[in-house]
Amino acid sequence: MPTTKPETIEALFLEKRKFPPPAGFQKIAHVKDESIYEKAKANPEAFWESFAKELDWIKPWQKTLEWNPPYAKWFVGGKLNVSANCVDRWAKSAHRNKAAIIWEGEPGDQRTLTYWDLYREVNKFANVLKRLGVKKGDRVAIYLPLIPEAAISMLACARIGAVHSVVFGGFSAEALSDRINDAQAKVLITADGGYRRGGLLPLKHDADYAIKETPSIEHVVIVKRGDFPLRVKEGRDHWWHRLMQDAESFCEPEPMDSEDMLFTLYTSGTTGKPKGIIHTTGGYLTGVYATTKWVFDLQPEDVYWCTADVGWITGHSYMVYGPLANGATVVMYEGSPDWPDKDRFWRIIEKYGVTIFYTAPTAIRTFMKWGKEWPAKCNLSSLRLLGTVGEPINPEAWVWYHEEIGKCKCPVVDTWWQTETGMILITPLPGVTTLKPGSATKPFPGIEAKVLNEAGEEVGVGGGYLALTKPWPAMLRGIYGDPERYEKQYWSKWPKIYFTGDGAKRDEEGYLWLLGRVDDVMNVSGHRISTMEVESALVDHSAVAESAVVSRAHDIKGEAVVAFVTVREGVKSDPKLTEQLKEHVAKKIGSLARPDDIIFSADLPKTRSGKIMRRLLKDIANGKVLGDTTTLADPDVVKHLQKTYEE
Ligand code: PRX
Repeated sequence: MPTTKPETIEALFLEKRKFPPPAGFQKIAHVKDESIYEKAKANPEAFWESFAKELDWIKPWQKTLEWNPPYAKWFVGGKLNVSANCVDRWAKSAHRNKAAIIWEGEPGDQRTLTYWDLYREVNKFANVLKRLGVKKGDRVAIYLPLIPEAAISMLACARIGAVHSVVFGGFSAEALSDRINDAQAKVLITADGGYRRGGLLPLKHDADYAIKETPSIEHVVIVKRGDFPLRVKEGRDHWWHRLMQDAESFCEPEPMDSEDMLFTLYTSGTTGKPKGIIHTTGGYLTGVYATTKWVFDLQPEDVYWCTADVGWITGHSYMVYGPLANGATVVMYEGSPDWPDKDRFWRIIEKYGVTIFYTAPTAIRTFMKWGKEWPAKCNLSSLRLLGTVGEPINPEAWVWYHEEIGKCKCPVVDTWWQTETGMILITPLPGVTTLKPGSATKPFPGIEAKVLNEAGEEVGVGGGYLALTKPWPAMLRGIYGDPERYEKQYWSKWPKIYFTGDGAKRDEEGYLWLLGRVDDVMNVSGHRISTMEVESALVDHSAVAESAVVSRAHDIKGEAVVAFVTVREGVKSDPKLTEQLKEHVAKKIGSLARPDDIIFSADLPKTRSGKIMRRLLKDIANGKVLGDTTTLADPDVVKHLQKTYEE
């Protein structure tokens, strides 16, 4: 069975309790009975069309799906505008004064934007972008803290047909310039800074370094978040508030083809170079609209909070596009969960009456460590549904979440999906599914997910690779500028089948249990990091001759980064160098990729043909008995490494 964390698998199946939907919940849920699965299976295209019809189209589509594997087109010939669907639809209805975004900054400042406010801001900023020369199809990079301007920028791009590329504020200047260059972005939207754990996130300062290397950037728009010192380059840099002052308040939404690009978002793959995942318009919006509505059972009076940053796909699909397309009230919080104290999240839930809360297993494990006294201090009775995403959730954390946060009355939806899938694909339907802690349960109606063996045959009950055997509306349409990599990475393992890169197990009742990545991608605190990216950052340091990076199991983060390093001749491998190397990786990629452990070795274990044996290094890092080492060129290397690591 392929897996990255074998020692945790047994623990997955120890918890035998099952949790049927609470009766009260089921009564009002959008989906109350299981027949929808059969109905959607019988005619998936009609199923997806039923959601697409709930959106506003400028021109109806002629064909629901055109599938020339691995290229799909959804709602072919249709025209629509995403910002009009997310904002105008509600701003021009009785929902006009409903809160669209309730935002809280880390220092405690607050802003509420109604749908009407959001409509005005998006229209004005769309005109600002136009004035800066941004046209349909141009790329715009967004490097912002979690402030309303992030959502406004994305929606303004969507309004004029510009393609946004949001870069997580925690990424380094170098990571930002790589992404800007790959997409050839024309405009960068950033802020003077953001708040994080009481400190400052120096975004403009980092952006200044980045744009030294990005000739495509013509203009930089700076949101004034605080009173942070910065340099403004005349002619190139502009303050957001100044530009907005005299911007026209209406901008006609651009009629976009269903298959026009909406955004690109960079994610790590199995090579050192991040890939720009392409998402388009009609299918993406239909997919996130449908899943937000059904997975979170979104009702008009809900107050919905997804704690993801806008720099990740979860922030795109389930903080901005999915909820706003549903006319929901979305809570956004800029900062850290332990600032000024470890109850910040619970205070926010109490303060705004949050009813739906969606977060990551890493966060839940951290809350467990901090202790149940923190949530117990707050009134969490408004909650009615909990969700998790980003990594496998261990049953112990699931049960804690269910009991201490949900007070045993909220279903917990464990949602599996990826940057590439755009939308949630494996998930419970909270009004229907009996939950098993640790299992993401079943494919969403209309989705075909199977567990296959190496040969591509379906595994009845047991473990294998998770694969998607039918196209779905929000699926990626490619990798920006690299169609070859798209075909090779996802569609070459088996013909016409999407390879997810995840291992999974199917149980006797058809439930799916996700077991982690089976490729060279690590999942650290729910963030995807490629082993190769960290390796290239390390060998970029003058002291390093060679490096091999693997992950090891970590109680809170799920996985932690372990780097095995061979230094150059004459270099002293001491604790000072360890710190320097960790810092170097943080500078090159971002602190999320900082290795937990650096192990120096005179040599790395290699096969006789010279390939580094990562599997062995992984065993060493996880303190496991080593497998077969007979193919090693020099078996002593392993013994030595194991000894060093154990010390
Ligand atoms: O390994 C799976 C894990 O996160 C990967 C996708 O990462 P990313 O594209 O950054 O998107 C994260 C947010 C959607 C997957 O290949 N993953 C995501 N959700 C789950 C999960 N693993 C287990 N259970 C989940 N619910």
